[in-house]
Amino acid sequence: MKKIFIIANWKSNKTEREAIGWLQYLSSKMYDLPQNKSIIVCPSFTLLANMKSYILDNKLSISLGAQDISPFGEGQYTGEVNGGQIKEYVDYVIIGHSERRKYFLEDKAMIRKKVLMAKQSGLIPILCIQGESEEISQGAEIVVYEPSFAIGTGNPDTPEDANEVARIVKSKNNNVSVLYGGSVDVSNVKNFTQMNHLDGVLVGLSSLNPQEFLAVINNA
Ligand code: PGA
Repeated sequence: MKKIFIIANWKSNKTEREAIGWLQYLSSKMYDLPQNKSIIVCPSFTLLANMKSYILDNKLSISLGAQDISPFGEGQYTGEVNGGQIKEYVDYVIIGHSERRKYFLEDKAMIRKKVLMAKQSGLIPILCIQGESEEISQGAEIVVYEPSFAIGTGNPDTPEDANEVARIVKSKNNNVSVLYGGSVDVSNVKNFTQMNHLDGVLVGLSSLNPQEFLAVINNA
């Protein structure tokens, strides 16, 4: 059975209380999670410490990821969170999400630096790309195909298109897992995860409500 990654990208949502409530709900329901499904939750930095404690204390099979990383190491970079700091809490980091490109003007050079930093810090980069022609930074282990028209719009790409992008990305890069992201929900998740070149999904809106996210996991 192939391994399926299900990544929750919470974006700029949730207080600490809401985050722990979400984990409490999942921990009460997630006892028979199939071995082949790997769940990675990516909350805001402010939530990581308490979520990590909760996950460890309750032995939950959920991994944590960050949503961004500084392109620099330690030093005079006000407002940034560096790879070493992030690695204290998580194993994964999302890099190059289209919202970072759009609202924070991240370009290819910046994204490349961030992937490098993630690798140097022992983190697994989850690199978001818009299409198969985009350069995959060296070291990216998980790539998410996320066409911007599909993000938060309720208008996903077709599973066939996503599968073709994944096929091409894999043909050009050894050992990458390719996921799809963009309006994945309870009703369409299986259409993506059952495609032969796709290794999972990244879920935004449908990951915020724990009941809904659990249904996404179960249907994947
Ligand atoms: P969405 O977000 O599931 O809300 O479309 C996906 C994403 O973060 O890319």
